[in-house]
Amino acid sequence: MAHPDVMVVGQVARDLVLLVDDVPGPGGTAPVRRRRELLGGKGANQAVGLAQLGASVGLLGVVGDDEVGERLLALARADGIDVDPVLRRPGTTTGLIVDVVDAEARWRYLEDLPEATLLTVADVAGAAGALRAARAVLVQLQQPSGAALVAARAAREAGRLVVLDGAPTDPADTDALLALADVLRADAREVELIGGDAPRDAAGGIAAGRALLGRGPSLLAVEVAGEGNAFVWPGGALFVPLSETPTVDDTGAGDAFVAALALGVLRGDSPERAARYAVAAAGATVGHPGGRPALTPEAIRAQLDRIPG
Ligand SMILES: Nc1ncnc2c1ncn2[C@@H]1O[C@H](COP(=O)(O)OP(=O)(O)O)[C@@H](O)[C@H]1O
Ligand SMILES: [Mg+2]
Repeated sequence: MAHPDVMVVGQVARDLVLLVDDVPGPGGTAPVRRRRELLGGKGANQAVGLAQLGASVGLLGVVGDDEVGERLLALARADGIDVDPVLRRPGTTTGLIVDVVDAEARWRYLEDLPEATLLTVADVAGAAGALRAARAVLVQLQQPSGAALVAARAAREAGRLVVLDGAPTDPADTDALLALADVLRADAREVELIGGDAPRDAAGGIAAGRALLGRGPSLLAVEVAGEGNAFVWPGGALFVPLSETPTVDDTGAGDAFVAALALGVLRGDSPERAARYAVAAAGATVGHPGGRPALTPEAIRAQLDRIPG
């Protein structure tokens, strides 16, 4: 197989999504209104989003040597993802995330993510060839920051586009990771972890992005919770409000967002265009339960029409 254009470095897990009217308290019972069992985890969600948007994509993550791992790899292959770099860790149980979401779109995650399902420095070093061969590498910072650093460095040294999502697990690695990045995308909580304060409004989002600009990335995307996302680049900034879409479950919207943003930048879109594309992809992901994106051209177009301004 030819080398994928984009490599995603991140989590692969089984997603069990349960939609209920109300989450019961202790001793209570609730009927499940809808159940979805999906390929999930942030890395896989980002890879699925990229594939749906037309990119050739490969995934570097870890599953166990169990039947669930086997099934997830088959699902990822069916999505068109190159799973050759995915590690099957002997004696490890594949990660499971249960997403219980109520009728008001409030989610609770129950996570069974064994330590051994995280990427190690050695895992990433072993896949450095695939990272160097891609045009862009998307690194999910929920992975241990030592492993994230090795991935970002391999891509950077090969002159590839380096896109980071989230906040480093070890704050001591933040400066080194930012210095290697072209694009950083963070939700409100992650901005707080990286920069100090979660922005409260559009101006705050742009200020937070500007503060990070000098630390490495040339494009920042910063969430302002409940309002929208601020985008900052040298010489420009834009705040894009949320699309007007009823939210069923916002799980995975950030993953769809960063997938679209990376692809927009990779194909040479202006920052303004890539920004709206990313927000449209996020908006297209909040209307269904579960983090798996469904990024059809029609869905993106419909969302672009629902972004105010
Ligand atoms: N209606 C919407 N339109 C556009 N973007 C949205 C909408 N609702 C949520 N988002 C965006 O989705 C993203 C969610 O990010 P994040 O918390 O990282 O999700 P996850 O990690 O589950 O993928 C944020 O950037 C938020 O602004
Ligand atoms: Mg996220």
